Amino acid sequence: MHCARCHVVPDINHLPIEYWIKSILPEMAARMGIKDGDFKPYDKMGFDEMQIVHKSGIYPYLSILNDQDWNILKEYILNIAPDSLQPTVQKGILKKQNRFTAKDFDQDGDIDFGIISTFPDYTNKPEYSIVYLENLDAKSYKFQTYSFEEANLSRWFLLDSGDIDIKTEIQILF
Ligand code: HEC
Repeated sequence: MHCARCHVVPDINHLPIEYWIKSILPEMAARMGIKDGDFKPYDKMGFDEMQIVHKSGIYPYLSILNDQDWNILKEYILNIAPDSLQPTVQKGILKKQNRFTAKDFDQDGDIDFGIISTFPDYTNKPEYSIVYLENLDAKSYKFQTYSFEEANLSRWFLLDSGDIDIKTEIQILF
């Protein structure tokens, strides 16, 4: 294929058709000395840049492909190009992770929190880098703060919660 003159041929399926039409094909055509639509390769360039690019010959004056072959190539690509891309990560496989979790961990009817600090103060308050806040009285925002010795190991990034060892109680996983 003509596209392999300059770089490895890309997989047409990897980009949506709109991007091929609006951006890639006009640009690649210009690099092969072909005018595709009203694409202006020197648009938005300053005068100096325009001169350098012009001299470099990356947009050749003489086309390396005739219009007929270009149209066949273009049609071929647009026939294959997908309308849109499918997300590569299927929903449901990877749950969104957080630095914060809220559940009734002690099962006393109110919501407790597990929180990881984004910028912990390891010098003065290392134990606050991860805290568990037990809800004592939701109405007056009264919480009991718990931490644990390993809180200052500075290796905490995300947390999740659930019944991890299936004992019917809910645990927090850091
Ligand atoms: C004359 C050399 C040349 C030819 C022939 C050529 N390309 Fe390219 N292509 C390039 C260069 C140089 C770049 C990098 C352009 C840039 O980053 O501005 C590029 C970039 C691309 C990109 C990435 C675009 C982006 O936005 O990142 C795709 C996709 C691509 N080319 C597809 C094609 C296809 C399909 C053809 C055949 C129709 C083709 N190329 C023919 C030189 C060429």
